[in-house]
Amino acid sequence: MYNRFALAKKYVRYYLSASNGGGHGIHSPFVFNFIKQVLNDDRQYAEYEKIESLRKLLLNDNTKVEIQDFGAGSFLGSAQQRTISSIAKNAVKSKKYAQLLYRLIKFIQPNNILELGTSLGFTTAYFSLAQPSASIQTIEAENSIAVLAEKNFEELGCSNIKVTIGNFDAVLHSIIESLAFVDFCFIDGNHRGAATLKYFQLLLPKMNNLSVLVFDDIHWSRDMESAWEEIKKCPEVRCTIDLFFIGIVFFKNEFKEQQHFTIRF
Ligand SMILES: C[S@@+](CC[C@H](N)C(=O)[O-])C[C@H]1O[C@@H](n2cnc3c(N)ncnc32)[C@H](O)[C@@H]1O
Repeated sequence: MYNRFALAKKYVRYYLSASNGGGHGIHSPFVFNFIKQVLNDDRQYAEYEKIESLRKLLLNDNTKVEIQDFGAGSFLGSAQQRTISSIAKNAVKSKKYAQLLYRLIKFIQPNNILELGTSLGFTTAYFSLAQPSASIQTIEAENSIAVLAEKNFEELGCSNIKVTIGNFDAVLHSIIESLAFVDFCFIDGNHRGAATLKYFQLLLPKMNNLSVLVFDDIHWSRDMESAWEEIKKCPEVRCTIDLFFIGIVFFKNEFKEQQHFTIRF
């Protein structure tokens, strides 16, 4: 992974070179609407408060949990015991990006949602409240964390989520096989290039015109940046949006030629 200084430098370069999201120079009506309805929608949805109140509680929870730190997960190394507070602070998407994903789900309205990397379940809960009719599956290797996530789903009244406890390598294939199509998948665990490409290849046969993939931390390491570039080259991919901390992939065939956008967010 890049050190903090290198990552900050990359972020500044992204920020200065990205399109400002005002829609200028963006000729695709789909991307124009995405910017307007997803990136720039600053309404405060009632669901935000529900999940963020729980986040506040967990940020102050010093209960310790045993974990093994699967995947290239954080700047903190592989501690054996972490407090819930430290997980809530360091290992989950911030409010800004979790709420962006909430709006993305509202925008694309997927029937099924898959998530690789549940942690405490914040992003999963945002998906659930954005699209209560969707069937959501989320995968987490850490038993102790998955149990906490399930408790959080219960507390938030998220009844459309199934948590699978297991390593992606062991369970992902059969979950994908059980679905005719994957409408939306958030890949947010094991941030290694080779693993990310493997998950992408597994998902690819299940993509349709409406499918959307979101990859976390696409600029986190050289390895992840190469994986992102490989994904962009794949002919089935029609449009990508690079928001620095996440990369969004669309398969819509209305894009006759591949289009790649970097947009400031
Ligand atoms: C970044 S966290 C997920 C955060 C969550 N999506 C959110 O923002 O609310 C990644 C999670 O993936 C899990 N993970 C990492 N590698 C994994 C693997 N190979 N199989 C299953 N789970 C894994 C970790 O235990 C960790 O809890």
